[in-house]
Amino acid sequence: MKKIIVTGGLGFIGSNLIELLLKKNFYIINIDKVNYSSNFYNTKNFEKSKNYQFIKLDINNKNLKNIFFKFKPVGIFNLAAETHVDRSIDDPKNFIHSNILGVYNLLESFKIYTKSNKSKLIHISTDEVFGDILKGRSNEMHPYKPSSPYAASKAASDHLVSSYIRTYGIPAIVTNCSNNYGPKQHPEKLIPKIIYNIFNNKNLPIYGKGLNSREWIYVQDHCEALIEVFLKGKVGEFYNIGSNQNMNNLEVTNEIIMNSKKLFKIGNKVKVIFVKDRPGHDTRYALNSNKIKNKLNWRPKINFKKGIQLTINWYLKNKSYYDSISKKDIMNRLGKR
Ligand SMILES: NC(=O)c1ccc[n+]([C@@H]2O[C@H](COP(=O)([O-])OP(=O)(O)OC[C@H]3O[C@@H](n4cnc5c(N)ncnc54)[C@H](O)[C@@H]3O)[C@@H](O)[C@H]2O)c1
Repeated sequence: MKKIIVTGGLGFIGSNLIELLLKKNFYIINIDKVNYSSNFYNTKNFEKSKNYQFIKLDINNKNLKNIFFKFKPVGIFNLAAETHVDRSIDDPKNFIHSNILGVYNLLESFKIYTKSNKSKLIHISTDEVFGDILKGRSNEMHPYKPSSPYAASKAASDHLVSSYIRTYGIPAIVTNCSNNYGPKQHPEKLIPKIIYNIFNNKNLPIYGKGLNSREWIYVQDHCEALIEVFLKGKVGEFYNIGSNQNMNNLEVTNEIIMNSKKLFKIGNKVKVIFVKDRPGHDTRYALNSNKIKNKLNWRPKINFKKGIQLTINWYLKNKSYYDSISKKDIMNRLGKR
């Protein structure tokens, strides 16, 4: 059975990716340092699978390369990262640690490992590296202009990967994806936060005037794209992964309210309130994903209308998911206001 290492597999996208890879008959080793955004709830569906094992480890740990040599993975998906923009504004240090130094250690380990083993590294990154895209859509050649410490740390990691490809010839690919949503996302992020507040009859705090626009992709579509990139992608390339569907925060929130009303009676305190904007808040991100569509024949399958219904239904059926997260972490930033 072919082995794959997924880093950050206790988080939102990593755990959804592992679920899909297991269905495709890979043996998965999940490496995660277990931080506040990790959740064992996310892996409970498959934690007993004979094709899965979890190793608690920081990707900065020098033992990483020994794990590569021990398991001999044919692929490594790197999703380990600090991911919340607001936290990066409060304190960028952890972002430098995981997203830059961690990727450096991963690359060094991978460089040594691939001298004698065939493998492929897929480094998962974000559309935020391009900064504000006020008009049109950014393709893979668009210059990087990150606005937040989070985006800057991811940009640095992408450049590191790119330099290791060019200088040392490591077999790696970088993917830049737009905003994900779906099951198992930490409720410090917009969509699960809004759903949590609706469940709990709280108001819905939205930054600024709610006009910041993001390209929303259902997490499963992202994970399927990652697997296509692993199987068919060309080493040394970058691939954008997006849905082509932009919506602003207010539109997203209204769509969640409207769909929730169809499913249950919502409380009288549920209403949008506008709060002071995030510093350096980018107005719009939008990717041009023609390359992955044309070269790898990948297409997103789930539009926002369908995806948001699936998402609300998942949180409704998994209300105990929220209990597995500390109230302090749920209320971080947006909830404080
Ligand atoms: N969520 C999105 O909308 C989105 C969009 C595009 C790209 N991405 C990228 O996808 C990846 C996963 O994002 P997510 O939303 O699932 O994040 P998440 O915060 O839900 O999960 C991240 C996981 O990484 C682990 N981790 C952090 N630092 C680590 C380290 N040093 N060593 C080992 N494990 C570590 C955490 O413990 C956590 O379990 C990130 O690289 C992120 O930049 C996310």
